[in-house]
Amino acid sequence: MALFTRDTQAIFWNNNKTAIQRMLDYDYTIKRETPSVAAIVAPTSGNKFEKFFYGPDEIMVPLYKTTADAKAAQPQADVLLNFASFRTAYDVTMEALNLGGFKTIMITAEGIPERLARGMNAFARENDVTVIGPATVGGIAPGAFKIANIGGTIENIVNSKLHRAGSCGLVTRSGGLFNELSNIIAINADGIAEGVAIGGDRFVGSVFIDNLLRMEKNPQVKYMLLLGEVGGTEEYKVIDAIKEGKITKPVIAWCIGTIAKYYDSGVQFGHAGASANAERETADAKNIAMKEAGIHVPVSFNDLPEVINGVYKELHAKGIITDIPEPEMNVVPKIRRSKEFICTISDDRGDEATYAGFPISSVATPDTGKGIGDVISLLWFKKQYPKWATEFIETVLKTVADHGPAVSGAHNAKVTARAGKSVVESLVTGLLTIGPRFGGAIDGAAQYFKYADDNNLTPPEFLKYMKGEGVPIPGIGHRIKSLKNPDLRVEGLKNFAKEHFPSTSLLDYALTVEQLTTSKKENLILNVDGTIGILMVDMWRALNYSEEEINEFIESGTLNAFFIVGRSIGFIGHVLDEKRLAMPMYRHPMDDILYDVQKAEKL
Ligand code: ACO
Ligand code: LMR
Repeated sequence: MALFTRDTQAIFWNNNKTAIQRMLDYDYTIKRETPSVAAIVAPTSGNKFEKFFYGPDEIMVPLYKTTADAKAAQPQADVLLNFASFRTAYDVTMEALNLGGFKTIMITAEGIPERLARGMNAFARENDVTVIGPATVGGIAPGAFKIANIGGTIENIVNSKLHRAGSCGLVTRSGGLFNELSNIIAINADGIAEGVAIGGDRFVGSVFIDNLLRMEKNPQVKYMLLLGEVGGTEEYKVIDAIKEGKITKPVIAWCIGTIAKYYDSGVQFGHAGASANAERETADAKNIAMKEAGIHVPVSFNDLPEVINGVYKELHAKGIITDIPEPEMNVVPKIRRSKEFICTISDDRGDEATYAGFPISSVATPDTGKGIGDVISLLWFKKQYPKWATEFIETVLKTVADHGPAVSGAHNAKVTARAGKSVVESLVTGLLTIGPRFGGAIDGAAQYFKYADDNNLTPPEFLKYMKGEGVPIPGIGHRIKSLKNPDLRVEGLKNFAKEHFPSTSLLDYALTVEQLTTSKKENLILNVDGTIGILMVDMWRALNYSEEEINEFIESGTLNAFFIVGRSIGFIGHVLDEKRLAMPMYRHPMDDILYDVQKAEKL
């Protein structure tokens, strides 16, 4: 029945870097296995992650635009730390409640309209979700999970023994006094087992009694301390629970605001709820009633430490509280340097470098059974693809390795080599021809055919759409290949896919488009670029990538990269061919150029 455990993870709504860093410093100090913040919702950020320190190192916490996206990606995170402003905090909470999957929602904003707050709290209660706040710094389960800024700096946390569980269950309204009391409890007893500052607004989600009843069931909590305040009648519910035997552990309590009686009229303290509307809402009345119910109530706030010490010693003498061994802690370094570069694909720091975690020797030699397709799947996609997929990748590379000396890129590479340039320079000039007309239509083909398929466009609708876009359909058309002179590379790729792919739905769609384009002109076939782009989408779909991830691959130019790698083999071959033959510098025959230059005298 603990509120939080060492495995609890939160989604943090708003990229509040200081508060999140404090949580992660806490995690590192108490040696948590996983960071307590699993995701951040940052609706206006275009970034995908935020870097934070985890001890001396840095970790990347993913950023999402919506709570729904964050929750879908991190379903285990069952705490929402709602750091939205008072204008949006209500909507954020309601959305999370409707999404489901959250056990606790903490709301920091102060000043959510009271009518909305009441509805929100009631809805949370119906859904069995604990709301901490609004208007709070949150709560802590020492040694397990700490919300944002509660407890203050890491030094203060360790001084107040909030780095490991003690025996007291602490509930306050105020966050400032929560910190103060943590310190008092650390000095006069053995620290707290669980603590919640329920918030200062008049209508807060979980109230004193909710927290105390939960702590009653938490075996780590041996006694409880309630710091109430003038205004409201929540303390009377605690009195009733004690009378009904629902709370049996010792309770220490004090209601602050006893000074209010020295003023002529009702005093409003800092919190919206801190004002007595009737005699029984005054601090004095509540303190007396609590004392009568058997609660340990000090004579004044100044005597509270002594009462805490008394209760602690008594429970210790009875053996209910035993001495807590101090755990070993990590120390957060004072000076930390943020890293400039990030690498998520390979690591050369150990004895042997790795590709996405796999030592090179585990993929390099033939006995590993791995090929270049496996290396690409590890280094480009950080995954180990199944055999049919790595074999498809290899089939693509082998298929596009070369297409003779006359094609744009090979021609360029040959001319450069003959101008006396090096292998790398000649190769690069060849690669630079890869683009929307030559070899680089793969991304475009995937993008447009996927768009048409996603939007259920019929082939004529698709052609019309492309006309509107004003570009030739990427992946359609060839200079020399046609229906009469079919491209056997395309046949090979299609046959491979038909035999090994779980499904080829985008290819099937593209072939219906090809029927239409070839009926207009017989060289408007689905070309090798188009076939590769479309089949890669079919491959990723079969590998269960989301449509969003596939779109991202396309946008980042991943597909053309297959042609780049494959065709580099051919270009290098042509360059070496030129060098082997010691070919002289090339000059294009002038009779192959149409000169159409105007005469100066005509100007
Ligand atoms: N979509 C629609 N119409 C097309 C397409 C196309 N992809 N390709 C050519 N056409 C039409 C042209 O509009 C033109 O029509 P018109 O005669 O009514 O004016 C006619 O076909 C001929 O156009 P050209 O550009 O002269 O066609 P060519 O056969 O010389 O070009 C090329 C071949 C450049 C590949 C062209 O088809 C094209 O741009 N395709 C799209 C890009 C592409 O897929 N490139 C990769 C090719 S494979 C590779 O490089 C490994
Ligand atoms: C290629 O693979 O280079 C060709 O499809 C292009 C061409 O013009 O033959």
